[in-house]
Amino acid sequence: MKILVTGGTGYIGSHTVVELQNKGFEVVIVDNLSNSSAEIVDHIEEITGVRPVLEVFDLVDREKTADFFKRHHDIAGLIHFAAFKAVGESVEKPLKYYRNNLVALMNILESMRENKIKNIVFSSSCTVYGQPDELPVSENAPIKKAESPYGNTKQISEEIMQDTIKTADIHGIALRYFNPIGAHPSALIGELPIGVPNNLVPFITQTAIGLRDQLSVFGNDYPTPDGTPIRDYIHVVDLAKAHVVAIDRMVNQKMKKDFEVFNLGTGNGYSVLEVIKAFEKVSGLKLNYKIVGRREGDVIQVWADPGYSNKELGWKAELGLEEMVDSAWKWEQAYRGKTVKP
Ligand code: UFG
Repeated sequence: MKILVTGGTGYIGSHTVVELQNKGFEVVIVDNLSNSSAEIVDHIEEITGVRPVLEVFDLVDREKTADFFKRHHDIAGLIHFAAFKAVGESVEKPLKYYRNNLVALMNILESMRENKIKNIVFSSSCTVYGQPDELPVSENAPIKKAESPYGNTKQISEEIMQDTIKTADIHGIALRYFNPIGAHPSALIGELPIGVPNNLVPFITQTAIGLRDQLSVFGNDYPTPDGTPIRDYIHVVDLAKAHVVAIDRMVNQKMKKDFEVFNLGTGNGYSVLEVIKAFEKVSGLKLNYKIVGRREGDVIQVWADPGYSNKELGWKAELGLEEMVDSAWKWEQAYRGKTVKP
């Protein structure tokens, strides 16, 4: 069964391709390589023994997208990861984000309709909940006004999908990710942000390997037990496996509605300082960090109620925080070709 993975050379995409291939799916990747590299396909092949097909083009290009789908009209379903994801950059360059994230989705949906392709899984985000009024946050929590154009593209994308699904023979699942971290246990694929990392864990591992001088902890005066913000960190391999379950649910017609939404989190919240402590424990290193002022737009605390996903998908995140940061650290060292001993 052939599955299209857009953004399949990216961080979550590449881990998902591995899990799909492990389950016997045939994968075609479309990626414009704007934030990833074609070599990832070699690494996927090394892990799984199977080389996925990679087509390099931009899904914002309507004609190229239409041509691709004509040639691959036998796709059973697709997982749409390809999108820009830097919150800060989206504030600086909103049109870049709206054009890329929304036009690509519209082109894909149009081509799905034209070629009678029924199933789409979409990469959404817990950012749609903003700072939830109740914790843990379930799928029924209200959608809050987005904090950034990036977050807004996720909200609008879910709406575009819902509206389209009402009028076409298309089924959709939006997966709302909490904070994906970690890397594949082979240490052959992981998170490789271009330039200075925005996210916590890549910043920690790059500091420990010597690429960054010091981690800035953005505020310790939040109303949380240790004063630092709390997130639901989830291992990227657990997250990837949920996509395979979602695809299986669609192609085997187990969906309860034409458009479904699931939270992908562990249900556990950890503070920034707890993540640092977990890193120090698994690495045996002392991390150079400093408390600085708050970062604009950060929510205080958010963690998932994964109950509905656990029950409906029969999926559960298995890996704990230490396994997450340990795998991220092993990958960072393998990628840099350097071992850092305590
Ligand atoms: N943090 C630091 N120092 C850093 C980086 C992060 O202290 O150098 C803190 C942040 O303040 C936050 C926590 O670490 O409290 C997690 O920050 P991340 O940037 O790793 O993750 P976010 O929760 O901010 O972002 C995630 C996703 C986004 C998504 C966003 C929605 O990465 O794609 O949630 O809130 F949009």
